[in-house]
Amino acid sequence: MTIANYKIGIIGGGNMGRAIIKGLTGLSQSPEITAWDADENCRKNLQQDFQITIAQDNRELADNCEIIILAVKPQIVPPVLAEIADIFDEDKLLISIAAGVPCKTLEKPLAAKVPAVRIMPNTPALINRGIAAIAAGRSATEKHLTIAGNIFSCLGESVIVPESAMDMVTAVSGSGPAYVFLVIEALLDAAVGIGMNRDLARKLVIETILGATELVKQTGKQPMALKDMVTSPGGTTIAGLAELEKNGLRHAFNEALQSACQRSQELGK
Ligand SMILES: NC(=O)c1ccc[n+]([C@@H]2O[C@H](COP(=O)([O-])OP(=O)(O)OC[C@H]3O[C@@H](n4cnc5c(N)ncnc54)[C@H](OP(=O)(O)O)[C@@H]3O)[C@@H](O)[C@H]2O)c1
Repeated sequence: MTIANYKIGIIGGGNMGRAIIKGLTGLSQSPEITAWDADENCRKNLQQDFQITIAQDNRELADNCEIIILAVKPQIVPPVLAEIADIFDEDKLLISIAAGVPCKTLEKPLAAKVPAVRIMPNTPALINRGIAAIAAGRSATEKHLTIAGNIFSCLGESVIVPESAMDMVTAVSGSGPAYVFLVIEALLDAAVGIGMNRDLARKLVIETILGATELVKQTGKQPMALKDMVTSPGGTTIAGLAELEKNGLRHAFNEALQSACQRSQELGK
């Protein structure tokens, strides 16, 4: 059965909820979608922009849908679940994208056999270039993971991970876009610093990062091997790389990921 055969409900139509709705309604075979958001304007916009059904409230949505996606802020998850938990049975699937909310929190108000899946997407999902990590709760099976993967394939790529990996996932791909934005900003400023105009710098930096990333992806080669290819003895690249190493770029990323991972563990408690 493809996802087009399911009735999918999305609770929360903010950045991520809207991206999911946009992705699903853009499929050639689109599922029946119902949404609800606390904000009236948001509900109106979703209805106008995607011609989906807007439920009367979260309970009606949960009642009418087989797959319910929670796309609300993490602190809103427990009250929303308290509102709808009794409607779930084992034929429904709960999917949460709330950062740092563990499966056990999702499952606590649900009956034991109700399947729940936790997903960590990232912001490039807004342009269908996201990477989402999917973890199964206690009653979720391969079938549920496949459904979740199929839903999120309309927002980019997905991987299945054990829930124990979610703090690392949060540090690497959840927070990752922000690290890359910082790197882009730093390179732009540095280019302006050596006298380049900002428009030209933006074009060169963005295409360089995109091109280098695609080269790693498409060749399957180790970054170190590709780096060696552009590093001629006594040349410009080795001079630049030596400065990055001297100034602790590698160490900074090690510390950043350890700190983000630890923060994710703390927030999940
Ligand atoms: N954005 C990201 O990059 C990203 C990445 C990974 C994971 N996530 C996760 O995705 C979730 C959503 O993030 P977001 O950026 O999309 O947040 P958002 O833009 O704030 O969207 C959440 C929406 O839920 C609505 N809402 C609040 N209470 C509600 C309720 N009781 N029932 C239904 N809707 C309700 C909010 O309305 P009001 O504004 O009126 O409160 C808002 O429109 C979060 O849990 C976040 O951790 C986000």
